[in-house]
Amino acid sequence: MSVGVIIVAAGKGERLGGSVPKQLLDVGGRTMLQRSVAAFDGCAEVTEMVVVLPSELTRRGAELVGQTTHPCRVVAGGARRQDSVARGFEALAPASTLVLIHDAARPFVDAALIARVIGAAGRTGAAVPAMPARETVKRAQDDALMVLETVPRARVWLAQTPQGFRRDVLESAMALSALGIDATDEATLAERAGHAVEIVPGDERNMKITTAEDLLSARRRFPDASRVGTGYDLHRLVPGRQLVIAGVVLSEDVGPLGHSDGDVVCHALTDAILGAAGAADIGVHFPNTDEAWRGAAGLDLLGRAVAIVAAAGWRPSNVDVTVVLEQPKVSPHVDDIRRRLAAVLRLDLAQVSVKGKTNEGVDAVGRGEAIAAHAVAMLIRETAS
Ligand code: CTP
Ligand code: MG
Repeated sequence: MSVGVIIVAAGKGERLGGSVPKQLLDVGGRTMLQRSVAAFDGCAEVTEMVVVLPSELTRRGAELVGQTTHPCRVVAGGARRQDSVARGFEALAPASTLVLIHDAARPFVDAALIARVIGAAGRTGAAVPAMPARETVKRAQDDALMVLETVPRARVWLAQTPQGFRRDVLESAMALSALGIDATDEATLAERAGHAVEIVPGDERNMKITTAEDLLSARRRFPDASRVGTGYDLHRLVPGRQLVIAGVVLSEDVGPLGHSDGDVVCHALTDAILGAAGAADIGVHFPNTDEAWRGAAGLDLLGRAVAIVAAAGWRPSNVDVTVVLEQPKVSPHVDDIRRRLAAVLRLDLAQVSVKGKTNEGVDAVGRGEAIAAHAVAMLIRETAS
């Protein structure tokens, strides 16, 4: 028996919202899609995989899916989930006699569940994992919230994926789909085509991530709820330039040389924040070879770094910076600098620490030829992103 797997990841994630489709969001250090792919890739019974992506993302397929040991093809999806499944099915090799279909939005699928579905689908021709309903179930009118009847709970099951089908069963299900029948899963189509569908025990942990609250509870499963990063920056000081830190002017006589505004505090903090999220560094995101960043304000770059890590699901929870400068004294400006940083970092003042130090006359910084800053940033999981 050859098992082919279709992982559907071509949805827009409208109920969750946000600019990135939910299956590409990070859950515990890997995207939902990568988690789903890895679960099937790790199964000995699996022979091939097809990942169905939104058409605009297929050229980034290899990067989004990551490395696999089993052959894995990427194809473009369709408007409805069932259209995406049909595209995936077309791309499977005819040798796959059993086909599993899985929602990328269920990242916690595991080997035991996959094995249960393979076993039952091999026996019956079609299998769906499902959880027994826990609540009392009411059926209502379509257009009004009036109860029509109470459905006996013992007979109600909530379907999950992966769903498994013998190839010929899935073919007849897909034929119904092509005739225009709408269904939110393939088991529905197989039932409509007259095939027996076996229920196998689902898994409580195999949740589908649909809303922002689902995403939050999925992320909370991981101990990695906070991350820390460090940053460092140094700029040469020359006469005749302004020395500005976070928009606060410290000196009109001596200031940093360089193509940016030379704000060591903002630059070190930007690196600390990017570093904590594992999102490269300031030179990668804002290269000094790019005219767009010539003279860019440090506070502006810091704000952009906050947005970059927010897209990956993180937000700063506190920062601490040490400025090493021989002259002038930093301490009279510390509160102004903290206030401006706090506004950009969206933190309370108490969460932003800035300290000044001299280098005791030692080295270039000690001779007043340079200013340096060391920064540490703590990030925590954003409630939703
Ligand atoms: N899916 C797909 N192609 C579509 C629609 C959905 O491949 N045209 C996939 C989704 O990417 C997801 C799975 O089917 O992995 C289950 O769908 P759902 O949870 O509804 O995801 P979305 O359609 O993306 O979300 P929403 O309905 O909130 O927009
Ligand atoms: Mg949907």
